[in-house]
Amino acid sequence: MIYLDHNATTPVLPEVLQAMMPYLTTEWGNPSSAYKFGAKLKSVIETARAQVAELIGAQPREVIFTSCATESNNAAIHAARKANPNKRHIVTSAVEHSSVLNYCMALAVQQTVDALRG
Ligand SMILES: Cc1ncc(COP(=O)(O)O)c(C=O)c1O
Repeated sequence: MIYLDHNATTPVLPEVLQAMMPYLTTEWGNPSSAYKFGAKLKSVIETARAQVAELIGAQPREVIFTSCATESNNAAIHAARKANPNKRHIVTSAVEHSSVLNYCMALAVQQTVDALRG
């Protein structure tokens, strides 16, 4: 098969899969848990965060891991709005992914409701 839609999804590199295997099989858990095992997983994630940051020339605190593209898109729009509270317009287009369009539409509806309430 020749898969031509890597924009929608893409396979994991073998070396990524190999690095992830322990955390997908035997060492899985909640890194936010207070117990020792959770703390160990937290340290694994923080190491990964630092590695990603170094790779892209960012600070580790600027790297946020999300569960999917929808969450990433929503978080990016939310952060942009929060950083620019006086800006009242978001420009998007009809060809944008529904995760962006739907979020923008929800914001527009909320803005209209807020305006009507005064
Ligand atoms: C540009 C874009 N945004 C968002 C999504 C939604 O991705 P997810 O299912 O990971 O939320 C996709 C999925 O194909 C996408 O291509």
